[in-house]
Amino acid sequence: MRNDVKAAAGKAAEKFRRSARLAAEAGILPYKSENGHWVTSPYDGNSWWTGGFWPALMWQLYAMTGEEAYMAEARRAEEMLTAEFRSFTYLNHDVGFMYLLSCGADYKLTGNAQAKTDTLHAANLLLGRFNPVGYIRAWNEPYKMGYAIIDCMMNLSLLFWATRETGDPRFAHVAKIHADTTLREFVRPNGSCSHIIEFDPQDGKRVQEHPGQGYTLGSSWSRGQAWGLYGFTLAYLNTRDERYLDAATRIAAYFVDHIRPDGLTNCDFCQPAGEERIDNIAGACAACGLLELAKITGDAAWRTAAERLVDGLLDHCCDWTDGSCGILTHCTASYHDDGAGRHTNITYGDYFLVEALAKLNGTDPMLWV
Ligand code: GLY
Repeated sequence: MRNDVKAAAGKAAEKFRRSARLAAEAGILPYKSENGHWVTSPYDGNSWWTGGFWPALMWQLYAMTGEEAYMAEARRAEEMLTAEFRSFTYLNHDVGFMYLLSCGADYKLTGNAQAKTDTLHAANLLLGRFNPVGYIRAWNEPYKMGYAIIDCMMNLSLLFWATRETGDPRFAHVAKIHADTTLREFVRPNGSCSHIIEFDPQDGKRVQEHPGQGYTLGSSWSRGQAWGLYGFTLAYLNTRDERYLDAATRIAAYFVDHIRPDGLTNCDFCQPAGEERIDNIAGACAACGLLELAKITGDAAWRTAAERLVDGLLDHCCDWTDGSCGILTHCTASYHDDGAGRHTNITYGDYFLVEALAKLNGTDPMLWV
């Protein structure tokens, strides 16, 4: 690839050394950088689905450097996240993102017994969202009782992890039922994925698709494509079921076909021509999935595609100055709702950028499986 990824990883570690101090001084769980300061999530306090990415970033940097300051900051964030178990109201299927990458990472890297207990607690919360008609309920609003979303493919790793840790197959059974439903109902013949499918919560029959965070009904929200790409890859790593690998490669081919010439990623692959709406989180996450696919299949084309994405981010969209607490620019939370951020820095964009750099450099502790 064109960029020096070792140098980029070193610069990221240096930048977040300072930014971790700023977060601890502010006493908050960072969501995004604004005018040189960290700000918290716009919705649901520390129960907002992204809360685990900041400690996850700290654990990536701890694995990369061995510096204890990152561990201390990760644990400070974990305290805030585990406090959310008591308020409970806003927690949803994204307890996978939140706790596998924070407490689960802590247990994986340090053997911390309390962190393992907290991760198992989160796995039980996710298991409790399963509707036996065939899907894991995504969100909490009463009218969304039948909603399942492609993002959940990333959360299933928490369930597979819980079965490995406890020997209890219920967690993995549920994860496989949900993955099979997703394979059947979300992955389209051309390799693209729907964001939201609504099921009848009484009998599991498909009711309808919703556009969700994408441009419009039937379009291809790029982060949803990245969740599908990486999520089915993780499902394969957890089960060795070839159907999931086949789905991951079909989604990957569709994604790679839509990488922009500059290596960046549009927010929706069906957005109107001339509309400049980028989501670099999607590109960074897809790069991580593609690097795993390259390892699994031995097909170097997936690595080349991942390198194109990371080169695009490093060439055009990294802010290494102290004017921003984070690095990756042009992150967009949702196509139509700018409330959670449009063309800005958001911590989970930084997380996936650093995970991709760690994979390319051989330091990734693989926090997902
Ligand atoms: N999981 C929600 C999102 O990707 O915005």
